[in-house]
Amino acid sequence: MAKVKTTYNCQGCGYNSPKWLGKCPSCDQWNTFAEEVIQSGKKSHGYTDPLKPATSKPKQLHQIQFESEYRIDTGSAELNRVLGGGLVSGSVVLVGGEPGIGKSTLMLQVALQMKNYLVLYISGEESEQQIKMRSGRIGDENSDSYILTETSTQVIFQHLQKLQPQIVVIDSIQTLHTDTIESSAGSISQIRECANEFLQYAKLTNTPVFLIGHITKDGNLAGPKILEHMVDAVLQFEGDRNYGYRILRSVKNRFGSTSELGIFEMQDNGLREVLNPSELLITQRDENFSGITISATMEGLRPMLIEIQALVSTAAYGVPQRSTTGFDSRRLNMLLAVLEKRHGFKLSVKDVFLNVAGGIRVDDPAVDLAVVAAVLSSNEDMPVNPKVCFAAEVGLSGEIRAVNRIEQRISEASKLGFEKIFLSGHSFKSLNPEKFDIQIIPVSRIEQVFSNLFS
Ligand code: TYD
Ligand code: MG
Repeated sequence: MAKVKTTYNCQGCGYNSPKWLGKCPSCDQWNTFAEEVIQSGKKSHGYTDPLKPATSKPKQLHQIQFESEYRIDTGSAELNRVLGGGLVSGSVVLVGGEPGIGKSTLMLQVALQMKNYLVLYISGEESEQQIKMRSGRIGDENSDSYILTETSTQVIFQHLQKLQPQIVVIDSIQTLHTDTIESSAGSISQIRECANEFLQYAKLTNTPVFLIGHITKDGNLAGPKILEHMVDAVLQFEGDRNYGYRILRSVKNRFGSTSELGIFEMQDNGLREVLNPSELLITQRDENFSGITISATMEGLRPMLIEIQALVSTAAYGVPQRSTTGFDSRRLNMLLAVLEKRHGFKLSVKDVFLNVAGGIRVDDPAVDLAVVAAVLSSNEDMPVNPKVCFAAEVGLSGEIRAVNRIEQRISEASKLGFEKIFLSGHSFKSLNPEKFDIQIIPVSRIEQVFSNLFS
């Protein structure tokens, strides 16, 4: 009988220890160790192509043939963009996201869209009936795409050898299990081993594989950092469930930029691609309200205009509240401190609420100036002209700093019909204002912005 061995693994980072530990020495998290049984004495039955014995051979770079057509069109412009121009053969792409965000919908839609490719969609979570229902909702059919409901990797590999698909989708990696490891599906060692088998399969057969992965409450891929290291690309599918927008972000990409972003909208009949996000993220309004400004941000290489909403009101209870949605609250506190200390606005006795419209999250420092303007506008209760937008960072001493790709931001603002853009004097120096059909207002201090907007 095979000898049974147990080990303890950190469910957060995969750190392995022979005994239980309260705190993980690798990622410093508490209570993350779980016992896992590893049955030794069994050989791995992972994927090995019987027709391919060890044929690998060291080559010089010039001997390697470069195939120009190595990007596969996934049928979705947004997904192609995030992948860096299409899917690379033999690559393994991890698609992560919270439950219910739309990962299965996205991947099924891709599977159905990729006509002329033999796609195998393997689901360990849903029944054939459920997938059929979903495809009915999406309203698409593809006679070249196959559905398999199975969780054992050994059985899956038998099907893969028979069917020889060109694209494989696995929904989800956490539901798979391999016979070589005793622990239950979803545990660290199962996830690692299953992913490893598919990695080998992808590289040996040159078939691209999408792995869907769940995210834990705290935003990590469940079972996870280890997966991120193994795969070629990690895409994060995120968004606020109360809004229809979904953002597909590339977190790691061996074949493209990690700053790319795709935007989708969840509708009754599946995900729709949003090709011009700016128009959707700016609320259409007839009236002019105070506390609303527009920022010209960049998400990756993509300029995007987003709306910032601020509400400043006298604190009703002792300690003033600060609350943000879609924006870093520490950054807001810093900007409020700058306004208070450098410019004498008495905000420490006020409640300040900040919201990025559309339920998206922004990290671009260029939104600073729009945030400051929105806070001031609400504080003064004076609206900012809706045809004005902002693109600059605010420093600790209240100075207005330049941001990258300013020309792209200006062009996008001008394309969408904005009349004025505020930016840093430093950005202005390197610009030719004649080139743009929009008034550019260089500023270096917050006072200048204030007097320009409100007096
Ligand atoms: P799903 O793809 O099952 O999420 P995940 O695989 O990430 O867990 O998406 C589920 C949500 O999307 C569900 O709440 C219903 C909604 N949905 C739509 O709004 N429209 C649609 O056409 C489909 C298929 C799903
Ligand atoms: Mg799902």
